[in-house]
Amino acid sequence: MDKIIITGGKRLSGTIPISGAKNSALTLLPCALLTDEPLTLRNLPRLADIDGFQHLLNQFGVSTTIAGNRPGDFGRVMTLEAPRITSSVAPYELVRKMRASILVLGPMLARMGEATVSLPGGCAIGNRPIDLHLKVLEALGAEIEMAAGYVRARAPDGGLPGGRYSFPVVSVGATENALMAAVLASGKSTLHNAAREPEIVDLCKLLVAMGAQIEGIGTSDITIHGVPRLHGATYRVMSDRIEAGSYACAAAITGGEITLQHAVIEEMEATVQALRDAGVTVEPVKEGIHVAADGPLRAVNLSTAPYPGFATDMQAQLMALLCRAEGTSVLNETIFENRYMHVPELGRMGANIETSGRTAIVQGVAQLTGAEVMATDLRASMSLVIAGLAAEGETQVHRLYHLDRGYERLEEKLALVGAQVERVGGD
Ligand code: EPZ
Repeated sequence: MDKIIITGGKRLSGTIPISGAKNSALTLLPCALLTDEPLTLRNLPRLADIDGFQHLLNQFGVSTTIAGNRPGDFGRVMTLEAPRITSSVAPYELVRKMRASILVLGPMLARMGEATVSLPGGCAIGNRPIDLHLKVLEALGAEIEMAAGYVRARAPDGGLPGGRYSFPVVSVGATENALMAAVLASGKSTLHNAAREPEIVDLCKLLVAMGAQIEGIGTSDITIHGVPRLHGATYRVMSDRIEAGSYACAAAITGGEITLQHAVIEEMEATVQALRDAGVTVEPVKEGIHVAADGPLRAVNLSTAPYPGFATDMQAQLMALLCRAEGTSVLNETIFENRYMHVPELGRMGANIETSGRTAIVQGVAQLTGAEVMATDLRASMSLVIAGLAAEGETQVHRLYHLDRGYERLEEKLALVGAQVERVGGD
């Protein structure tokens, strides 16, 4: 397995191109199932999870072609065509590797009138149930049954009628499945307390470009008027606000100054506010967002929350930054039950963090020291990289496959702004 070796202490400076958003791409890709016409997605990030989803779609009979682009480019153009669906089953061996596979349930049900998807199971950060996905699809008229670790959804003859559902908990994935099922329903559907993440807006904009009729985009009350069919489209995936926030923390912890090219400040206001509260200068510029940390870092108290609150996907990265702030920060992780696995690893680098349940108390320290550390999940591994960039000496981050799921060519991007990083294989 690969590892990354970071020699800390280099001040980051320059420009990092931000890639397409992983968490948008993973819900835009299954939209190919909703039409028999070609769907072309631009600015797709080169990530393991995207490759995995492409493979899953291929085994439904969806053809995928990658348009030529220069090897040095970040991102890819992919055209997906699904004139015929040859299977409506998402098997365990594919789903267990990538829980976002559950996002084929809604579109497959809408297209084929039935879908069978292996239960994704939990992951490192929590048991990740899918009860809300199933409840909202039932509300839209689907029959749901569970058997042998699979969920099987069926629409009545004539397709889903549509319906209304009020989410008891905000769920990004369940909102996405609901939207992709409702767009081809025979009637109207309304979703209350729907997720409002920018990735949901990106999905709605693609669906509208394909001919869907959706009102309330970007709000927690969405109305979808079902249409008989959707047509193909060409669409550019939004920039990755979590990748941008991660590199902002990387620059800040080194006292550096970088431009996050293609980042959109309006999509990451809570992250920007947290960085400003920590003493980091963050300003919109023509090509994206400019981040500079030339003074001492300050402690920050915050809780993660559904958008527009502070993103749970940014918690580990901000925590790494706060390890070097003056004072004590208190963080509350309200979304997932086990999202502090980076804490003991940061502790090995000299960080002073106490956790109790969903609360983490971070005492800033004067110096972090490089160490061998283990990535446990995607965002935790990025927090270790961020700490390593500021740590004295050498940090080795093992189990890099976690990082490759969500950060396109990380070591190349960090090298662009002066970091001393090296990827080595086979540890
Ligand atoms: C999406 O996961 C993201 N993944 C996650 O990013 C992100 O952390 C999460 O949204 C929250 O923003 C993708 O978009 C591929 P949820 P998702 O449904 O949809 C509970 C990353 O690092 N819940 O909004 O699975 C759930 O347990 C990943 O890029 C239910 O109880 O998240 C959690 O506590 C990690 N029942 C809360 O809701 C359900 O049926 C929010 O989960 C569904 C969710």
